[in-house]
Amino acid sequence: MIWKVKKRHKPSNQGWRVKIDCQQRAENCSHGAKKPANDPMPRLPGGPCHHRFRRHNGPLRALKTLISRIFVQSMPFQCPTWPPDWPSIELAIQEAIRTGQWGQYHSPLIKSLQKRLAEYLKSGPIRLCCSGTAALELALRCCRIRETDEVILAAYDFPGNFRTVELLGAKPVLVDATSNFIAGRHAISPTPDAEQVAAAASPSVRAVIASHLHGSQADMHALRQICDEHGWFLIEDACQAIGGQIDGEPIGSFGHLATLSFGGSKLISAGSGGAIIANDQRLAARLGGLLDRPGDTFPIGPLQCAAIQPQLQRLDELNRVRNLTAEFLRKNVFQELADWEVLTTSANSRPQTPDDPSTSTRSTIAAHYKFGWLTPSNETRQHVIEHGRAMGLPLGEGFRSMSSASAKRCRKIGSMPHAETLGERLVVMDHRALLTPPEHHDELRDSMHELYRYVNAIGG
Ligand SMILES: Cc1ncc(COP(=O)(O)O)c(C=O)c1O
Repeated sequence: MIWKVKKRHKPSNQGWRVKIDCQQRAENCSHGAKKPANDPMPRLPGGPCHHRFRRHNGPLRALKTLISRIFVQSMPFQCPTWPPDWPSIELAIQEAIRTGQWGQYHSPLIKSLQKRLAEYLKSGPIRLCCSGTAALELALRCCRIRETDEVILAAYDFPGNFRTVELLGAKPVLVDATSNFIAGRHAISPTPDAEQVAAAASPSVRAVIASHLHGSQADMHALRQICDEHGWFLIEDACQAIGGQIDGEPIGSFGHLATLSFGGSKLISAGSGGAIIANDQRLAARLGGLLDRPGDTFPIGPLQCAAIQPQLQRLDELNRVRNLTAEFLRKNVFQELADWEVLTTSANSRPQTPDDPSTSTRSTIAAHYKFGWLTPSNETRQHVIEHGRAMGLPLGEGFRSMSSASAKRCRKIGSMPHAETLGERLVVMDHRALLTPPEHHDELRDSMHELYRYVNAIGG
């Protein structure tokens, strides 16, 4: 437990004031605590974070604090760090500086990474760019999406995808997320419902965006078939899922175009950066026309490429660790957390039979940028995130759902209960926690159980 009550002041009509002492090291402190102007203590790395006053809202809050003290954990959960600080990354960057390749427009570092990524993903040509968001915009521009065109996407998706469609003057057409009946219960996949995609057909539709989110894979076989039947472009958003496979084929190889992100804390991280995969020659040529003027118009930097290379080398290894932890959470933790529902890993609920050639023995491998589950209510979600973070668990909300966007901004296909549920009740755990090695899985399990008990005790 990291909160320690130091001194209690008289209750006032504004609530109780409690002085709290954060026991975390300053650099790990998640309170966003600023050093108070009148506090002489320096905020040193390795030292404690600052004492500060917090106003409690009254007896209810005080009761929660008391309950949280009962469910005490001696040490916060320690997540592996990300982005990685590997010596191999340092070496690659030093080498880029030594050779001068870091300071060139058409650096060989960019070309060699494009080639290696295309080999790894068994895809068509790849062009690196400045972000996953720019990659989607370029993909839509390659498809010549214009005003009066429509683009289908899930109401629960990275909100920037909706914005990018709007930015090009086109109209987003929203479909619900997928729900499958698995092992006697409904499980949600935060990916576009293929039946609703087919039902969304209109003469104006030109493209479909399918994102693989939170370790769950869109039903790419079904979506590609629907797109081919209607002559639509399929754009696969693989920003969260690099390294995953569906029936033995790499994620990113199913769409006419696909996008990757190396931004922020992604599975491969360079602070910012992205890529567009063109699995169609005509589109690859258009992409060149958009980017080369004659310098690269949305470039990634050579130093970012240097930092990405070693991470690409270790991607499969680390995805295996993440998947082991995700499997552990599913089988050994969430089985016991009755009303917390884990997302399903696939939108495809086809029975796996040996006679079905499309399912055969070819491997399906998830890639988890996040691990998600639904809490019973929005209020519970707030408690889970707030207390989980204080315990050192890297938790957050999923995306907001666009299902409530006004009818002027988009066309909607029926009601969207699953997207709404995801927008209101989804908790996501960052992949840093999934990098926990198997010998520390028990600590993760104990933290999750403690979190569950705490949230139930405060009636969340
Ligand atoms: C599914 C998805 N698509 C696109 C993006 C945008 O990537 P970037 O941050 O590199 O613009 C993100 C970022 O989180 C994402 O999760």
